[in-house]
Amino acid sequence: MVHCPSRRLTDRAERRRRSRHLRLCRNRHRLIRAHTARGRVTYRAPCDTDIQKTRSHPDNRKLAKMMVHSHDGDREQLRPLFREADDSEQQIDAYLGLGTVFVAEDDGEIIGHLQLIAGDEAELKSMAVAESRRGTGVGRALVRAAFEHCRQNAAKRLLVATAAADVGNLRFYQRQGFRMLRVERDAFVPSTGYPDEIVIDGIPLRDRVWLGLDL
Ligand SMILES: CC(C)(COP(=O)(O)OP(=O)(O)OC[C@H]1O[C@@H](n2cnc3c(N)ncnc32)[C@H](O)[C@@H]1OP(=O)(O)O)[C@@H](O)C(=O)NCCC(=O)NCCS
Repeated sequence: MVHCPSRRLTDRAERRRRSRHLRLCRNRHRLIRAHTARGRVTYRAPCDTDIQKTRSHPDNRKLAKMMVHSHDGDREQLRPLFREADDSEQQIDAYLGLGTVFVAEDDGEIIGHLQLIAGDEAELKSMAVAESRRGTGVGRALVRAAFEHCRQNAAKRLLVATAAADVGNLRFYQRQGFRMLRVERDAFVPSTGYPDEIVIDGIPLRDRVWLGLDL
């Protein structure tokens, strides 16, 4: 890990040094992309140095136009997105028609979905964002819509399950406020429709983690 001093910028020389430092970080690490609470795009080096982009950044403009609403049309049209979230066609067939589906739409194009199964303990059954639009806050907006719907329907808790191997998803859900509940071992096996030997980031797809959020 590179040591990156973070100092207050007091003069032009400092600013130049910081800019050189960030260039160095950009070359050495994949910067972590995020949004601040005020809608700015932030790039964070592993050392936590921030570069702020303005609200006029193209991703922010896209996000401003994006709408989340419930989907009343044909669910089959959403199957490619469901496939992004689940490797088992057998499982998708079983739940595609259930519950309520929210979609994120931008300029008439569906760029994400979230499926919610109602109940005292509601379940976030499936969600995905089009690959080219990931990391721009669409997933967060879909989860917010699900929270809102659950609260309106007096659900007490929202559950979600994801692969233990998918560390990125575990981060995403915990960033939305979910907390770990339990692990279901050997949930992703051929008998439930999952091909053998799927590996995510070097980790074999085997176990399922349940997370929950009290509403
Ligand atoms: C998981 C998924 C829906 C997230 O949607 P998204 O639009 O990319 O997420 P957002 O841009 O709203 O990100 C919200 C936060 O989660 C983080 N995040 C999202 N995906 C992440 C990933 N793969 N790894 C690490 N962090 C991630 C973002 O960095 C952001 O963090 P921040 O709050 O610190 O800024 C999307 O990555 C996806 O479609 N994945 C493939 C399908 C899938 O696996 N679905 C879930 C099945 S359970």
